[in-house]
Amino acid sequence: MQEFEDFLLKNLPVSKSIHPTYEKALGEMLIAGGKRFRPALLLGVVNAYNPLLLEGARHAAYAVELLHTYSLIHDDLPAMDDSPLRRGKPTLHVVYDEVTAILVGDALNTYSFEVLSHAPFSDYTRVQLIRELACNGGLNGMVLGQAIDCYFENSPLKIADVKMLHTNKTAKLIAASLKMGAIIVGKEEVGDALYNFGIKLGLLFQIQDDILDVTQSSEEAGKLTGNDEEKNSFVTLIGLDETMKEANTLADELLVELNTFDDNLKENLSSLLIKYINRHRN
Ligand code: IPE
Ligand code: IPE
Ligand code: MG
Ligand code: MG
Ligand code: MG
Repeated sequence: MQEFEDFLLKNLPVSKSIHPTYEKALGEMLIAGGKRFRPALLLGVVNAYNPLLLEGARHAAYAVELLHTYSLIHDDLPAMDDSPLRRGKPTLHVVYDEVTAILVGDALNTYSFEVLSHAPFSDYTRVQLIRELACNGGLNGMVLGQAIDCYFENSPLKIADVKMLHTNKTAKLIAASLKMGAIIVGKEEVGDALYNFGIKLGLLFQIQDDILDVTQSSEEAGKLTGNDEEKNSFVTLIGLDETMKEANTLADELLVELNTFDDNLKENLSSLLIKYINRHRN
């Protein structure tokens, strides 16, 4: 998504201050890359129902990625996962300092909603989009998941509770990305169905991430792997083989559900979804 990097570099509204590194640090994790999975989901739904709205939908796609990027910067902090590498680059607290990483995360979090507030849609649609992102990315979503994840380090949870944890920290934002696409095209029922699908997809995405933590090198992953030993990861709790089985079951169910989608949705999302649904099998 080259246009994503271009948008951010051209539009990041930072005026040069007396701070020597703040402006540079702000853009660094955004342009470092990443899979851009969440914006691709959102734009895929919009493209399926009304490609004319794609241009405006970019605001929402950027907003989701901004919030996600903030969550990664904070996730890597010494107080959380203490990771020196992200998106193939040294993390901000390593390059600069912890204060800078915390504040860049804060700035991207609020900037995400600023971008969304400029989306060229009706006030009603804009409020719905803002609410969806806030509810899933915030206190009853990603932040709650992260709080549980960190609090229960070294305290094994029941698998049902880990599913709840993964749903909050990862699945809700993925589900919200799909639903936000449906909100933009005014398809409420499709949005609800996609949200439920997205929760399952997001749970699988985090289980795959748990698998990759033990099967990929840090170089391959572009982030520190082998870092989940103290965590309630699926692999830590039930081992790699059982985790693969769990992922396969979810993946197979999702592939069946994908087949029930509208034809235009299938056309626009199938290749992306199949690639990610099968990510752990490659
Ligand atoms: C990493 O997300 C954090 C999780 C929720 C597992 P991604 O795997 O989407 O990270 P990027 O955006 O590609 O860097
Ligand atoms: C983090 O989960 C999910 C977020 C909300 C950022 P992880 O801690 O497993 O993500 P990685 O492995 O560091 O990308
Ligand atoms: Mg974490
Ligand atoms: Mg982490
Ligand atoms: Mg992980």
